Amino acid sequence: MRFDTVIRHGTVVTASDTFLADVGIKDGKVAALALGLTDADEIIDATGLFVMPGGIDSHVHLDQPSGDGIVMADDFDSGTRSAAIGGNSTVLAFCMQEKGQSLREALKVYHAKADGKCHVDVSFHLVITDPTAEVLGQELPALVEDGYTSLKIFMTYEGLRLRDDEILATLDAARRTGALVMVHCENEDAIRYLIGRHEEEGKFAPKFHATTRPVAAEREATHRALSLAEIVDVPIVIVHVSNREAMEEIRRARERGQKIAGETCPQYLVLTADDLDQDALEGAKYVCSPPPRDKASQDACWQGLEQGVFDLFSSDHCPFRFDDPQGKLNEKGKRHFRWIPNGIPGVATRLPILFSEGVMKGRLDINRFVALTSTNHAKLYGLYPRKGTIAIGADADIALWDPNRSVTLTNAMLKHGADYTPYEGLDIRGWPVRLLLRGKTIVNDGRTVGDADRRGSYLARQRSSMVQ
Ligand code: URP
Ligand code: ZN
Ligand code: ZN
Repeated sequence: MRFDTVIRHGTVVTASDTFLADVGIKDGKVAALALGLTDADEIIDATGLFVMPGGIDSHVHLDQPSGDGIVMADDFDSGTRSAAIGGNSTVLAFCMQEKGQSLREALKVYHAKADGKCHVDVSFHLVITDPTAEVLGQELPALVEDGYTSLKIFMTYEGLRLRDDEILATLDAARRTGALVMVHCENEDAIRYLIGRHEEEGKFAPKFHATTRPVAAEREATHRALSLAEIVDVPIVIVHVSNREAMEEIRRARERGQKIAGETCPQYLVLTADDLDQDALEGAKYVCSPPPRDKASQDACWQGLEQGVFDLFSSDHCPFRFDDPQGKLNEKGKRHFRWIPNGIPGVATRLPILFSEGVMKGRLDINRFVALTSTNHAKLYGLYPRKGTIAIGADADIALWDPNRSVTLTNAMLKHGADYTPYEGLDIRGWPVRLLLRGKTIVNDGRTVGDADRRGSYLARQRSSMVQ
């Protein structure tokens, strides 16, 4: 067979295997894995490089309305460009339902934001904020059939959080329809109460974001979410877990026989609450929820990645500009942590941080890296085996990694819309030097090629491997 492209002399890495092979690509798909493939229009020499499935980041916020004059720093153009720079070929973004809005209307809005603008493939999780009988009974079943097979719910944030009875109704609807539910676990009432106490004590600096959202508020909500899921007998994903106590809740639920997936993120491995405690409001750069914790929590999250508490390593990319009246330092945010928009940029840095801190420092083997950053996302969110692996018939979404490339992170190289990265100056070993999306190179040596092409497509998804 004559191929469109052959990647030669690389070391192919999947979630299960590491082997020397050339990869033959035809019509955007992997068509052959063998030694000595030469007959192709384009030959890419991958000597000394790892040939891995493109990253799939299943937790990314783009172009979401953020209230009160606050504007998210990335739309689908800049956010997916940044994703590609960091070695990702697919992102799963959120489609946020406004109160009173139908899910179909919300999807129309997000498709209009995304269609034709994406540099990598994209799909949507629904965010349900208004779980009416019509939304759960009529809309959700039809949307799952149409390939919108996952949704997120919040236990915190005024205006977004669901009450326990609403959570139960949503989980029950998910069980009936086969949707997978992601849950943001923090106890909103406890947080509100603590914010009130901080106000009485005149505590308004960014560092108090962390003290009003303690581990116990996350642990309690995690326990509650797991219990509610047990009551209606449905699998769930606990997203952005920050500490050992929440991890223990996941372990215990699994021991009881529940099907649970766990997710953690780079901020819980390399940042701590001390990063929020800096002069001149610098701490606002690190405000996200749950907040980064302490060194012991970082160690626990590393253990969870190694030992299987976590199935997913995602960015929770939720970017706001720092020095901007529409961003972190809006007028109210400068005076009170409560008004600093929650979230940090990270879609481009997720993979390099885990590769450098995990694989290169011997904490994770490279196959586990692929599972945590690509394969498990594809399986859990209904994209496997089209995405998430290098196998005959899979989309040729392939990242070439140079384990010897040393990079010091700077904001400018990440090409996102934020004016900072929380990881400025971090030394990284190992970098995704080239990225192919369905067989076409979209990033080479840190730069997007054919930038105007925007080859990303929308992906309808199957049901999760956890609900089948
Ligand atoms: O602070 C965060 N994580 N912002 C993004 C929204 C969310 O809760 O995932
Ligand atoms: Zn969340
Ligand atoms: Zn998030």
